[in-house]
Amino acid sequence: MSFARLSGTGSYLPERVMTNAELEALVDTNDEWIRERTGIQQRHIVGDDETTCDIAEHAARRALTAAGRSPSDVDLIVFATTTPDRIFPATACLLQARLGIHGCTAFDVQAVCTGFVYALGIADRFIRTGGARCALVVGAETLSRIVDWTDRGTCVLFGDGAGAVVLEESKGAGIHSTHLHADGHYADLLHVPRDSTDDPAGNEMPGGYIRMKGNEVFRMATNTLGRIVDETLLANGLEKRDIDWLVPHQANIRIIAATARKLNLPLERVIVTVERHGNTSAASIPLALDVGIRDERIQRGDMVLLEAFGGGFTWGSALLTY
Ligand code: UT7
Repeated sequence: MSFARLSGTGSYLPERVMTNAELEALVDTNDEWIRERTGIQQRHIVGDDETTCDIAEHAARRALTAAGRSPSDVDLIVFATTTPDRIFPATACLLQARLGIHGCTAFDVQAVCTGFVYALGIADRFIRTGGARCALVVGAETLSRIVDWTDRGTCVLFGDGAGAVVLEESKGAGIHSTHLHADGHYADLLHVPRDSTDDPAGNEMPGGYIRMKGNEVFRMATNTLGRIVDETLLANGLEKRDIDWLVPHQANIRIIAATARKLNLPLERVIVTVERHGNTSAASIPLALDVGIRDERIQRGDMVLLEAFGGGFTWGSALLTY
């Protein structure tokens, strides 16, 4: 029996930082509201000519360096994104070309904010069943391109960024389990309509931008993430006290705190980046993981729980020994 073990992580944030004060000039909002209701203080925004593949390449190269691997070692690329460079080919293929790799399996995963957990779950299954030995798993987003900068209910929340991990075949424990769920009945609570005719409520609104019923998503996210904590612990025969670190999707500090409370974990045992990164969807977990590993809070042998909730609805978790 082989496991998939995390051998390296990397991340990248675009240079431009957008503060809450800048948003005050765009919509009727204020720094105090954004901090209190979300925990966000700033977010990074890509430059005009910077693409999802561009920022992912930086994160991927950093992850490969941390793992002591070269691009030619990679035999699988799973790329989670909601903001691909093109409708096709997959951004995974564009990244593959950038890295100078030929022939390996490469595809995108669309599970919005749960995308990275889905991608990790898929790569884990490839490795455990002998379909790959060295996988590059990426979460990268340029959400600023699908944010409606006139909608104060959403534009204050999102940011751009990229994270990546290298997963390798290992005899010793790495990923213990992943739990992936979806319920398409909630599609309309958080979505990007195709065009003005694609609104179930019949409102005339421009397509192509994020639309969210924030309040309802918040309630569902909090309850669902509480349940997935129980599901993950039960599947592995573990108790709450066995978890060393929580690395959650970074949507809102209040949702993160609720999940930490569910685990009886103090916030000091949670990797929190939402204040600096905002919600970077599929990139938020690999970004936070890289922060926690590089600043040496997460140590080899620690038990780490990743969890996410997002559009679809989709939700999921991964439990791993780092
Ligand atoms: O990552 C994928 C999953 N996404 C999430 O998990 C996001 C989940 N939702 C949330 O994080 C929160 O619902 C939000 C941060 C989006 C909103 O926070 P809330 O506490 O649920 O606020 P609300 O929507 O209930 O609005 C409260 C008030 C409203 O004013 P009234 O009607 O009480 O007068 C809003 O119009 O706050 C107002 N408001 C704002 N005020 C200042 C909404 N957005 C803003 C804003 N600045 N940006």
